[in-house]
Amino acid sequence: MLEHSLQRAIKVYANADDASSYVADKIAQIIKTKQEKGDLAILGLATGSTPKGVYKELVRLHQNEGLSFKNVVTFNLDEYYPMHPVEEQSYVVFMKQNLFNHIDIPTNQIHIPDGTLSVEAIKVYCELYEKKIVDLGGLDVQLLGIGRSGHIGFNEPGSLQDSITRLVSLDDITREDASDDFGGRDKVPTQAITMGIQTIVQAKKIFLVALSERKAEIIQKAIQGEISAAVPATFLQQLEHVEYVLDEKAASLL
Ligand code: PGA
Repeated sequence: MLEHSLQRAIKVYANADDASSYVADKIAQIIKTKQEKGDLAILGLATGSTPKGVYKELVRLHQNEGLSFKNVVTFNLDEYYPMHPVEEQSYVVFMKQNLFNHIDIPTNQIHIPDGTLSVEAIKVYCELYEKKIVDLGGLDVQLLGIGRSGHIGFNEPGSLQDSITRLVSLDDITREDASDDFGGRDKVPTQAITMGIQTIVQAKKIFLVALSERKAEIIQKAIQGEISAAVPATFLQQLEHVEYVLDEKAASLL
């Protein structure tokens, strides 16, 4: 039996499209509310197969219903390291293809961790990434997927609750799951730059989206398992401002 507050935080939809539309509508509402006040909307964004439907719906809202992104500032969760922004596996290319090329967001309002830095430059760069978010008043919303390792962003098992943006090593499961994108597991980078758990939980609203039966086992652990760095997504259980948005297949073991 799930604790009541946690139960309220779980939304289960019949299919991925309905789950994605729900999240896209929530994000659109935040953008519009900020617009009415003349404020910027600060969005934390994710990559991977999961958020594609959310982005597709946001693009539709822009093209067909006049939703503007001119007041939107974005911070992506992560990027492989090393990674050049023109490579097809880069999250820069992903975000352009799935969202940014199709909306009216000013380019200088987009932030994605830089996979081209020298190792020595990463620490200061990450501190600045954090500072930019804080200086803008924090993330209004953070969109998350979940990896089969239990990661959010690239906060793999072992990530601490107070971690901030940093260089990390990727879990074996994560590299396995990315092997098709890179044409083999050995070609998947071993490292990435990711926002930390602390960066993520400080967002004012968090949507963790999980779709398909592939995610059922890790969703069960993330929501009902013991809170532990072994499954970093469990750190969200304690938060009032998180919603788990699932399709029936991802929710099947709850
Ligand atoms: P996926 O990845 O959406 O491609 O399943 C999710 C994640 O690793 O966070």
